[in-house]
Amino acid sequence: MSADRQFQTPLFDAMLSLARSRKLSFHTPGHKSGKGISTRFRKFVGPNIFSIDLTTLDEVDSLQKPRGVIKEAQQLAADAYGSDASFFLLNGSSGGNHAMILAACQPGETVLVARNVHQSVVTGLILSGARPIFFLPEVNFDLKLVMNVSFRATKTAIDANPTARTLILSSPNYYGITADLERIIPYAHKKGMVVLVDEAHGPHLHFHPKLPCDAVDAGADCSVQSTHKIIGGMTQASMLHVKRRRIDMTHLASVLRQMQTTSPSYILMASLDLARMQMATEGEKLLDKAIYLAEDARRQINGIPHLSCFGKTDLLGADLKEASFDLDVTKLTISVEALGLSGFEVSRILNRDYQIQVEMSDPGNILVIVSIGDRQDDLDCLIKALQSISKKGKLEGKGKKLSSEVGLPPLSECATLTPREAFFKPKEYWPLEACDGKLKLSANMVTIYPPGIPALIPGEPITPEIGAYLKKMSMFGAIIDGLDGGNKIGIVRE
Ligand SMILES: Cc1ncc(COP(=O)(O)O)c(C=O)c1O
Repeated sequence: MSADRQFQTPLFDAMLSLARSRKLSFHTPGHKSGKGISTRFRKFVGPNIFSIDLTTLDEVDSLQKPRGVIKEAQQLAADAYGSDASFFLLNGSSGGNHAMILAACQPGETVLVARNVHQSVVTGLILSGARPIFFLPEVNFDLKLVMNVSFRATKTAIDANPTARTLILSSPNYYGITADLERIIPYAHKKGMVVLVDEAHGPHLHFHPKLPCDAVDAGADCSVQSTHKIIGGMTQASMLHVKRRRIDMTHLASVLRQMQTTSPSYILMASLDLARMQMATEGEKLLDKAIYLAEDARRQINGIPHLSCFGKTDLLGADLKEASFDLDVTKLTISVEALGLSGFEVSRILNRDYQIQVEMSDPGNILVIVSIGDRQDDLDCLIKALQSISKKGKLEGKGKKLSSEVGLPPLSECATLTPREAFFKPKEYWPLEACDGKLKLSANMVTIYPPGIPALIPGEPITPEIGAYLKKMSMFGAIIDGLDGGNKIGIVRE
């Protein structure tokens, strides 16, 4: 297919042409091109958006059964990403993870799963009834960060579990650290496994040679990307890319039909059509700028007293020689520990005093995403704010104490029940403190959000270490999902 075709936006064009035709609508949506919408809403956003808030009609095709412009738009996405097929997703990468796992994994089947996966992967396991065997990511004790799974740990898990047919990974992680997919995937394939990758943070990787290798290029059978997180998709708009060799494409399409809404937003789908066009036609140039801005900011941040921001070369600690992680350099993980403040505190100060909002904070860091939407001025403001916070001196906050006190999440890899078994058991709710030492099994998923990696998965033991970790994290202001009424934890009733 000629590269010129990537300039085309068949879905968006069809939507514009239908909107301009001003056909009389006696169908959903009920606001009828905005005529019935609240005046306040229309005044703020203007009239155009409502004229393209369409429903499934011949002119604009059907997501459930694409035969026209949606089929063409998805094919263009597949060509741009190098997959055999790409599907538009309207419930983010969460929906993609659910569908990918449900389509690829059988109930009771053993599945190897990196323990640093997002909660939506666990929900996919609950839906499918697969029996996960988790293996742990590496920890970099210098950076005090959970990295990603290493080739060595993945190979060990694969060799120890010859009956496992599927491997599920998450790469890059929230901090932009990728697993070595180019070694892991061929090894898993050699052992007859199917590889599914949650690549929510990687929809841009394919379009720039300085960014880590993306999952499709590394040979993944399925990968899910949040187009909305990093490039031009609107919130919720994501994509699922598939290679047909090991995946039953007809079954996957059928699963997506059953899992996705029957009323997909055409606005979100158009944003996918346009985001793909933008990346395929000028992605490298746009990303060049984002990479330059991020690397320049990293250099400046490393010159600010008490702050540091790791780069690619810092990823290989002495104990991690074999892990060979790569970094998406557009992510800036800024360590604030030496300021004497926690990441949560610096995030609040930036928001309150400098009108700057960061993506995420943890005990020792704040995370800044630099994207194709950023300008030099934006980064200059951030640097000035960080310089000003640093100049106020080494504040005696909780930071130093906090990150060494809280430590890293003591992730478990030994569940007694499968997530699905635990999910459907009768539950009771106990205060966190009451679980100390009694080794109850968690009935729920307990997740610190962001990054959304479950601290506890249904069926895992609530160890004293994880209990203490959750208590400390909540004391220091982390948002913990899955604790009922703030501090009650669901346990499996014996
Ligand atoms: C690694 C990872 N996977 C999946 C998701 C879910 O993506 P979405 O918000 O698009 O549903 C997230 C969201 O934060 C994530 O960090």
